[in-house]
Amino acid sequence: MPRDRTPSLHAALLPLRFFVGGTFLFAGVDKLLDPAFLQVAGPGSIGEQLTTYSLISPLAPLIRAVALPAPLLIGVIVAGLEIAAGLGALTGLAYRLSAVVGALLAGTFFLTASWSIRPYYLGPDLPYMVGWITLAIAGDGGRYVIGSGIERAFSLAPPPADEAVTTVDRTRRGLLQLIVLAAGSLSVAGITGMLSALGPAFGSEPVPSSPIANGSGSPSGGPGASRAPGVIATVAAVRAARSTVFTDPTTGDPAVLVALPDGSIVAFDAVCTHAGCTVNFDRLSGHLLCPCHGAIFDPAHGARVLDGPTDQPLPSLPLQIDQATGTIRLAG
Ligand code: FES
Repeated sequence: MPRDRTPSLHAALLPLRFFVGGTFLFAGVDKLLDPAFLQVAGPGSIGEQLTTYSLISPLAPLIRAVALPAPLLIGVIVAGLEIAAGLGALTGLAYRLSAVVGALLAGTFFLTASWSIRPYYLGPDLPYMVGWITLAIAGDGGRYVIGSGIERAFSLAPPPADEAVTTVDRTRRGLLQLIVLAAGSLSVAGITGMLSALGPAFGSEPVPSSPIANGSGSPSGGPGASRAPGVIATVAAVRAARSTVFTDPTTGDPAVLVALPDGSIVAFDAVCTHAGCTVNFDRLSGHLLCPCHGAIFDPAHGARVLDGPTDQPLPSLPLQIDQATGTIRLAG
């Protein structure tokens, strides 16, 4: 009889398991190491990302009600869950639960960060979600699982084959794995947080925050202050922050105000002309960058394309600036 060389299902899934697990672990650690991420506002901050999602995502009401009031907590929770899902996939601890958490996270990213990408297959989060679902359905198959070693250490080794595995045994094992996974995730997050606190050697330079001009903001960016009808920002606030995001009331698109080095202020639709991701202002280069496929737009020259897979500049939004009050409105 020829030997069957077909790999088992779980052996075939190992590359997927280690890729998505390793990527989510790295993504969680990377977020905690990035001083720009855990900020209420500013380029690359969780606050600014949530603000953008509150403009474009189908989860917008939930984001406005739950996430926007506590952006830092949401940032820490997302990073922590990414670390836990990644560790669970890599170690086999609470494997199926970790895969479900990974799938829920990827699904949430699809409905927020990737929602404006057209066509949908250019976005990265849907394939991750499908990958996690596949792992959740298949289970670990007992391969590369450190959970069994931990169970033995806690005298929870599987009983001999002639003894039935009781529901109580399974519950205890699952609980133990969950506790070890949570402890491991908290340890990784804690060590990462300490490294981040040690300074720039472990992350990028902190980024000054910028005001966000969305529906509830104020022209000066101060929380709770009122805004005259039609005013999207003030000249002083935009110059201080160098950029401000807002919603174009005509199209509903995210849009961005940029203060140029010569003191003038320009505005553009922030939806990338390649596949619809939201571009961000980069303080270092002074350019508008698309996080999806790397398009670079130059706000000082009509948002013309400097690099990337598109040749269409961002649509310019004409402004009406009241020199007396220093307020900015969209013209027309
Ligand atoms: Fe592809 Fe912006 S969406 S470069």
